[in-house]
Amino acid sequence: MAFSIAEAFAPATVANLGVGFDILGLALQGMGDRAIVEFQDAPEIIFSEIRGDDGKLPRDPALNIAAVSARALLDHVGEARGLSIRLFKGLPLSSGLGSSAASAVVSVIALNKLLGEPFTRAQLLPFCLEGEALVSGYHADNVAPCLLGGIILVAGTTVNAIQPLPLPDQFHLALVTPDIAVPTDSARKILPKHVTLKTMIHQTGAVAKLVDALHRGDLAALSQAIEGDRVVEPARACLMPMHREARAAAKQAGAAAVFIGGAGPTLCAVCESAVIAEMAASAMQAQYLAANIPCMSQATGVDQCGAVVLNAY
Ligand code: HSE
Repeated sequence: MAFSIAEAFAPATVANLGVGFDILGLALQGMGDRAIVEFQDAPEIIFSEIRGDDGKLPRDPALNIAAVSARALLDHVGEARGLSIRLFKGLPLSSGLGSSAASAVVSVIALNKLLGEPFTRAQLLPFCLEGEALVSGYHADNVAPCLLGGIILVAGTTVNAIQPLPLPDQFHLALVTPDIAVPTDSARKILPKHVTLKTMIHQTGAVAKLVDALHRGDLAALSQAIEGDRVVEPARACLMPMHREARAAAKQAGAAAVFIGGAGPTLCAVCESAVIAEMAASAMQAQYLAANIPCMSQATGVDQCGAVVLNAY
């Protein structure tokens, strides 16, 4: 059946899981971006509407992640028609919640539906990465979980690099997103260009422990591994006021591990129950509010579905 309009949803994601810089990410239940994509006879991609971005996203399709990703797919299949995109941002920009990945994925998932679904969701990865690369280079640790849901290892940027990992039974999350913009490119520039062999051994060991702990469902070992990062988070902490205090408050409330969501400033706490996640979210929020930094907090879990087509006509 041929469709000319498709509506899709793409979830928030958090990348890195502490020690897994650029290779680990998970999808979050709840928040996300929505888009309505429609074929048009003219070859261009236009935005008929963008909401929820406070006017900050570029309307120029050559500069907008949703359009660049859709263009990559249109060109790949040799489709001559263009698109009209209505994009509804549910995710704050530059927040560490995978906003750019969601923009890329939501338009590509909808377009794939219009094309008759020639690609599996995993096969859509390269098109989404074309858009994501506009803001933060080629890494798939947000795009892959956004497409597929769950916790994903993606040690590369090709489809066969995607490896879904098991989700432990007791795996709840508390998140706080302070109203501080941390652009991904700034948070990447601040990283060390070289690490010592000793650090490299520690870092790779922690990633291996993390993957092993997920397979065994061992939350204590998982938490220790997540917090084993000696390279990325220590370099970025200075970009995030109250980071140390919020982290300590989450631990005090019972969180098992706390890590920076992607490039930040979202802080994400792993908790063994929904009740602890609620308490950790409130405790982190209280720290930012006491410092007069507005923030949003949430207790949530891992979304296991990934992006979905909501409607097609
Ligand atoms: N892995 C990326 C980073 C995620 O931490 O820079 C943000 O795009």
